[in-house]
Amino acid sequence: MSVQLDDAALINSVATKTAETRRLLARIAAEFAPATFANSLGAEDMVLTDLIVREALDIEIFSLDTGRLPAETYDLMGRIKRHYGLTLQFYYPRHNLLEAYTREHGINGFYESVDLRKACCHVRKVEPLQRALAGKQAWITGLRAEQAATRSGLPVRERDADNGLEKFNPLADWTEQEVWGYIHANDVPYNKLHDQGYPSIGCAPCTRAVAAGEHVRAGRWWWEDPTSKECGLHVKRA
Ligand code: ADX
Ligand code: SF4
Repeated sequence: MSVQLDDAALINSVATKTAETRRLLARIAAEFAPATFANSLGAEDMVLTDLIVREALDIEIFSLDTGRLPAETYDLMGRIKRHYGLTLQFYYPRHNLLEAYTREHGINGFYESVDLRKACCHVRKVEPLQRALAGKQAWITGLRAEQAATRSGLPVRERDADNGLEKFNPLADWTEQEVWGYIHANDVPYNKLHDQGYPSIGCAPCTRAVAAGEHVRAGRWWWEDPTSKECGLHVKRA
């Protein structure tokens, strides 16, 4: 997203929110050790990566490698290693669960129904997430309230009772403009797909580009109803 870097109102709001976010991240590192940050390498997560690495905060940074990520996301993993010297902690799907899923439902079974899509997300993301969060006191995400109907009213801090730890969403009230204002002002590396019409990026077969004016998550699981479009990473069990 291109933003006007000389827009005074934007510069001010980015500066204010950056200072608040930096303070919150430092507090999480100090008071909730061990804390971990779930990094999908999307634009929001690159803002948090930059803040955590610049301040050398004691927060682990992990990615869930589903095995189906776009080539551009793997490319960005290499670029952040060179740019920041950052080695991500990767979590992978359990091979026995994945082999059972593809045997039963095929390699692209997720297109057949919402249930099969959620089952794939469970094997490739949710189960590995549970392992990533085990033994931690807090986890950090790049969620923003504006991103989806399912995310409106998102708090900065909440109890994640299902996983038994605190969950922080430091960018909850950031706008898309502010995210891009930070990225451009600080020369933060970002996924090349963002310049090709992909505001939100997940697995390659489940993400497509959106047209100008379309909702930022319209390209995620585009064949599904917007009210059900969560992969399970951020859904509370009843
Ligand atoms: S999703 O639930 O629809 O996939 P989205 O792509 O908007 O989520 O990302 C929201 C937040 O979930 C990210 O900011 C990040 O904290 C976490 N997240 C999503 N995908 C991953 C991933 N593959 N690895 C680590 N964290 C992830
Ligand atoms: Fe599977 Fe698609 Fe979910 Fe990735 S986003 S885990 S490919 S259903």
